[in-house]
Amino acid sequence: MAISALVLLCAVALSAAQTPVASQSFPIPSIVNPWVPTNPGYYVTPVLKPFTLSKVTNWGRMNDSSQVYNVYRDGGGSCSLYNRTFWVYCDSTAYSKTTGQIVGAASNSMSLAMDFNQPNKLKDFTLIPSTGFAPAIPFTSYEASFSGNTALRYALWTYTNCVQLTETRAMHFFKVQKFSNAYTSTYYGNTMAVYTMDPVNNIITIERPQEFWYANTTYGYGSFASVVVNGVAYLYGIDATYSGNYDIHLAKVPVGYETNMKYYRYYDSAAHGYSYTMPVPTARRQSAAVIQGTEPFSTGTVFWSDYHNAYLLVFFNNWVDSTFRVLSAPSPAGPWNVSNTALYQSVAGPRGFNYGGNASPAYYQQPGQVAGKELMLQYSYQNKSNTYPVGLSVTFN
Ligand SMILES: *[C@@H]1O[C@H](CO)[C@@H](O)[C@H](O)[C@H]1NC(C)=O
Ligand SMILES: *[C@@H]1O[C@H](CO)[C@@H](O)[C@H](O)[C@H]1NC(C)=O
Ligand SMILES: *[C@@H]1O[C@H](CO)[C@@H](O)[C@H](O)[C@H]1NC(C)=O
Ligand SMILES: *[C@@H]1O[C@H](CO)[C@@H](O)[C@H](O)[C@H]1NC(C)=O
Ligand SMILES: *[C@@H]1O[C@H](CO)[C@@H](O)[C@H](O)[C@H]1NC(C)=O
Repeated sequence: MAISALVLLCAVALSAAQTPVASQSFPIPSIVNPWVPTNPGYYVTPVLKPFTLSKVTNWGRMNDSSQVYNVYRDGGGSCSLYNRTFWVYCDSTAYSKTTGQIVGAASNSMSLAMDFNQPNKLKDFTLIPSTGFAPAIPFTSYEASFSGNTALRYALWTYTNCVQLTETRAMHFFKVQKFSNAYTSTYYGNTMAVYTMDPVNNIITIERPQEFWYANTTYGYGSFASVVVNGVAYLYGIDATYSGNYDIHLAKVPVGYETNMKYYRYYDSAAHGYSYTMPVPTARRQSAAVIQGTEPFSTGTVFWSDYHNAYLLVFFNNWVDSTFRVLSAPSPAGPWNVSNTALYQSVAGPRGFNYGGNASPAYYQQPGQVAGKELMLQYSYQNKSNTYPVGLSVTFN
């Protein structure tokens, strides 16, 4: 027993001692939105409720109205640490309120939710005068050497939620894109950002353990969705290359070991089990996929709903119909019922479609509420020349 405890300690020390390839911290305003995390069993017998809605409230643009700049941005996702709810957005451009001219831009930016009862109210704590236009997620020094070169720059983009690991620690996956001209970028792989929150001094530290977590030669586990159940993080990645976004593959890692690649295991649906060997996608591996959609996936959120007594995947498909859809399962590894229900069709802007649809369950997990009965949803709305996030909330029957 003493020996195995020692081995465990060494493993933890090793993973903790790793020097991140990039790190930075930001002071955050003290804004607390209490919520109660769910504590689901790994496998449940779903009580099927129809996915019909009794109420929809449109909140409009997600925005910090006290910002000195007018900020447009897209994508993004949220998670909570110590009852602070963080939002991270992609390509964020700041315009002067007086001249209307662009004054700066960053590959991503971070904000806090002001008030769960007013889901569209944010407080930006990057892309403000005190931080300048630095991205929230730090570049490696090599990536940073391209900043300012529009045609060759790197970008770190996310379309999914971060996921809470401990009271003060979360993980989040970003796509690493490299531009080859001003308009075209290539996906190089994903990268993990680890958020550590200091609730006493109100500081968040953002670290990237490696430049790439999963290179573009493998599935981008964690880039589609992540959920933590019973101390294990489940990471979902889309096979875009061979399945045309129809197949979702699954990896898992015990919380505490997430920065150590050796502890990751990979699900094979056909074999009903996990293996330490990462599947190498040289062709479509349909039978190994944890979800084989009847429609291609684009973005989404996996979470547990107490109200539905089921794991839900709320998502946008890749057909740009601006519609939130839902799938359900008795466990993170399924079996997922792939016959989806259309929850709500959002109204598209002048450029034809919304994208980046996801869900933020924490907003309606305030003390006394039944988790999953109400849900906050968010998408990227394309106005004439700008894009901004829009929020709404829905109530299930
Ligand atoms: C967060 O809020 C919940 C609900 O009020 C409370 O039970 C919990 O202790 C809070 N957590 C922290 C870390 O403050
Ligand atoms: C969003 O915030 C900007 C910056 O403060 C402000 O100029 C604008 O009016 C806000 N827009 C909405 C729709 O809240
Ligand atoms: C994958 O990433 C590498 C850089 O690591 C890049 O050179 C290559 O073009 C990418 N492959 C594809 C298919 O985009
Ligand atoms: C699968 O989901 C659909 C849509 O929500 C539902 O109508 C159907 O009953 C579900 N099937 C099973 C086997 O649970
Ligand atoms: C959307 O675009 C129109 C036309 O350019 C503009 O008048 C309006 O202010 C924009 N709305 C927002 C919230 O940016």
